[in-house]
Amino acid sequence: MRIEFGEYMIRDWAGDDGGSIARYANNRKIAMWLRDRFPSPYTASDAKVFLARVAQQNPRTVFAIATQHEAIGGIGLEFGDDVHRFTAELGYWLGEPFWGRGIMTDAVRLFTEWAFAHLEVYRIHAAVFAGSDASVRVMEKAGFEREGRLRASVFKNGRILDQVLYAKVREGIV
Ligand SMILES: CC(C)(COP(=O)(O)OP(=O)(O)OC[C@H]1O[C@@H](n2cnc3c(N)ncnc32)[C@H](O)[C@@H]1OP(=O)(O)O)[C@@H](O)C(=O)NCCC(=O)NCCS
Repeated sequence: MRIEFGEYMIRDWAGDDGGSIARYANNRKIAMWLRDRFPSPYTASDAKVFLARVAQQNPRTVFAIATQHEAIGGIGLEFGDDVHRFTAELGYWLGEPFWGRGIMTDAVRLFTEWAFAHLEVYRIHAAVFAGSDASVRVMEKAGFEREGRLRASVFKNGRILDQVLYAKVREGIV
């Protein structure tokens, strides 16, 4: 898969992306807004494990955000199971040198469109940790609807946090 936007793209992860993942993902300012399974510190060996897992995925739901030269971030979906099997949670991160240029807003908008067109998914949601104001802005700018506040739903970095739930539903479904 490949979606180009300006000088950036969303593309499949490649076997040699490990160096750039470790370079940009190894940042506490990124990990603090993600699940604990996102390693921090993020080592080259963590990147290798991640890339090996992604290579096994079928269909692929996890992709790189990249320049022409290197991967600079990630975006992907995790499907639910049982009655949630046609819904998916969106996750994303971007290397700090690239923040504030509108990259993630474009990536989320385009990736969501792509997912509704190519995957059997009817609802895409993201639960943003309270205080993640940049991510809240991304959700709103990318056209996600705020559905509510999941009070005291996360334990992160020694603190109980609320999450703000955002979602987009495939057109014509409801
Ligand atoms: C959230 C993240 C993906 C944003 O990527 P980005 O490409 O910089 O986002 P954009 O440039 O498209 O938009 C960011 C918006 O947030 C705003 N913003 C940035 N920091 C902010 C802050 N501390 N408070 C309020 N708004 C902030 C920017 O001004 C911009 O809004 P604007 O266009 O109205 O000015 C990036 O910061 C990141 O990877 N963070 C860590 C991981 C993370 O939070 N992932 C999401 C988990 S739900």
